[in-house]
Amino acid sequence: MGEQVLTITDERTGKSYKAPITDGTIRAMDLRQIKEDAEDFGIMTYDPAFLNTASCRSSITYIDGDRGILRYRGYPIEELAEKCTFLEVAYLVLNGSLPGESELKEWVHLVKHHTMLHETTKKFLEGFRYDAHPMGMLVSTVAALSTVYPEARHVLDPENRRMQIVRLIAKMPTIAAYTYRHSLGLPYVYPDNDLGYTANFMNMLWKMLEPKYVANPVLSRALSILFILHADHEQNCSTNAMRAVGSSQADPYLSTAAAAAALSGPLHGGANEQVLLMLDEIGSVSRIPEYIDAVKAGKYKLMGFGHRVYKNYDPRARVIKWTAEQVFQVTGRNAKLDIALALEKIALEDEYFIKRKLYPNVDFYSGIIYQAMGFKPDMFTVLFAIPRTVGWLAQWDELMRDPEQKISRPRQIFTGSAERHMPAERPTIGVPVGV
Ligand code: COA
Repeated sequence: MGEQVLTITDERTGKSYKAPITDGTIRAMDLRQIKEDAEDFGIMTYDPAFLNTASCRSSITYIDGDRGILRYRGYPIEELAEKCTFLEVAYLVLNGSLPGESELKEWVHLVKHHTMLHETTKKFLEGFRYDAHPMGMLVSTVAALSTVYPEARHVLDPENRRMQIVRLIAKMPTIAAYTYRHSLGLPYVYPDNDLGYTANFMNMLWKMLEPKYVANPVLSRALSILFILHADHEQNCSTNAMRAVGSSQADPYLSTAAAAAALSGPLHGGANEQVLLMLDEIGSVSRIPEYIDAVKAGKYKLMGFGHRVYKNYDPRARVIKWTAEQVFQVTGRNAKLDIALALEKIALEDEYFIKRKLYPNVDFYSGIIYQAMGFKPDMFTVLFAIPRTVGWLAQWDELMRDPEQKISRPRQIFTGSAERHMPAERPTIGVPVGV
């Protein structure tokens, strides 16, 4: 097939323009040639919230929202969740292929040997109030790591990037666990390098006086699966923040802190915490119809439902439902599950949700599992941030390698007032402009 071209006719001038089509897109800059006259700036696109704008070329994650497909580096999420450990998936997301036996050994060793926090960072955490939200503590502590590793600012050096990527992936569970211990007033537990990634995280969360913490293997595997499901999700709000901040060549700790800040909002990573609050508010299966009516009247949103990209069942929600069953066999059934299942059933049969293609997303069931495992709702977004760090860093590394990328800087349509002037009688305070 020859070159595909879009021909645009400007009815203001009667002129026609050509814009090549590549991968189903035209270059926004090709629209600049469309001008009313030589003085004209040229046409721009207006796309608040990036509903129809590709901001990069990426080979990491593929989503087909209409068909409910999610793949990392080509592998379906269901297969990765079934057959891989989280660190294997992290390697895949970062490097593009699954590790061989020796590569995996080396990778796991590397991550395990960077889990400790500098003692000053630990002290920094101690300064937070006892009731500080864990996400605020996480964001600030990740940003503070920038002061511990000043060499991280050399972001154009691939070896240096690699080092910071390992550090961030290794230290995220440690920071997360410390925010949790801090809120309970418990002493921090040092990482145990004998343990796997999620078992060590559980050790840092829940070890008390026993000499060696032994995680329940079903729960540590469930956490590993949840981490796999959350590792990346292409150009979502927090990844976009990572890329936008990273595009200024800020160091990866500061960029990751910015991404984590974006994740904290209730419309993004904060949604599973909101789901639990919503289930508490509903209280019983009998109150669901009343709540659904309030949602339809625009009073609330059904948290954990709807997605910018998925207009079908979120494939991660299916794996999570299965994982929930495994977890509940160990922890006992979370009473909220019955409300959630009934809510899902009623919503999926309701015209309002069918028409708008609103299905459960990854957050609908994850909070229920986390709560059954013993996490407080304010830790849920932190649990999302740990694995998503892998995606943020893979996307950041891809950005750094991409010769087409520049500092991220959108345009605007100015809607303010035209030029106006200060009253002539107003006295001058400083040196007048232009003198
Ligand atoms: N409950 C009720 N109605 C919802 C809804 C929800 N969870 N999500 C979207 N809608 C409705 C909107 O009100 C809108 O209705 P309208 O056409 O009558 O105005 C329509 O569905 C389209 O929604 P819109 O807000 O344009 O979708 P979006 O792509 O901008 O938003 C989300 C996507 C995820 C932000 C949104 O679905 C949401 O807020 N969900 C709840 C929070 C959540 O679970 N977030 C986690 C995402 S993984």
